[in-house]
Amino acid sequence: MSIISGDSLLEQLTWRYATKKFDPAKKISAADWAVIEKALVLTPSSYGLQPWKFIVVTDSALKAKLRPASWNQSQVVDCSHLVVLTAKVDITEADVDRFVARMAEVQGVSVESLAGYKGYMVGDLVKGPRHAIIQDWAARQTYIALGNLMTSAALLGVDACPFEGIEPAKYDDILGLKGTGYTTISACPLGYRAEGDKYAAVPKVRFEAKDVVEHR
Ligand SMILES: Cc1cc2nc3c(=O)[nH]c(=O)nc-3n(C[C@H](O)[C@H](O)[C@H](O)COP(=O)(O)O)c2cc1C
Repeated sequence: MSIISGDSLLEQLTWRYATKKFDPAKKISAADWAVIEKALVLTPSSYGLQPWKFIVVTDSALKAKLRPASWNQSQVVDCSHLVVLTAKVDITEADVDRFVARMAEVQGVSVESLAGYKGYMVGDLVKGPRHAIIQDWAARQTYIALGNLMTSAALLGVDACPFEGIEPAKYDDILGLKGTGYTTISACPLGYRAEGDKYAAVPKVRFEAKDVVEHR
């Protein structure tokens, strides 16, 4: 028994679009934002390591500073909330320890009992061959969060626009991320579409399922 009807799900996924013009007067309510933020935090990640930090910008002056670092896209200033998705630049044993400590706390087990799982993660991500691409690995995890964020917003009737059209190094400067161990990967303005954003009515361009989905 599904929680939401298939029709409603598809309706919202069709309703959403990469919003080009937000209505600057419309703000996401605190209640809706709290849900969106919880959904973001619930995003799954490889091993559950959550190699990210999400920076939520609502301050107008800060948004204005970020606009030139965002290919001058107006959504940055007109949105209600701008989420900047950042990823860890490295994964160390200390990062794994931090996660294991949290796991022990939440699950009510000892850190020692998780030694095997810890060894597995360290062997793979810290000492294994994947360490050479660890920043890419962390960045990939943030795209799961970006997808989750967009879908969650759409289900609440909140508009969003995923953004790779940014200059990550400039974002890092403006947000003071240098030396924090996190770097900007993408951003996502959220809010409500402006009346007259003609892109809202443009039909979705997707390949036919038969061309992108294979059943075997
Ligand atoms: C990772 C990613 C980065 C994107 N970057 C931008 C961007 O910087 N600016 C923009 O207006 N749209 C951006 N888009 C929106 C895409 O162009 C849009 O999602 C795609 O054309 C499909 O259209 P739809 O989202 O309206 O269904 C991005 C989309 C994704 C998934």
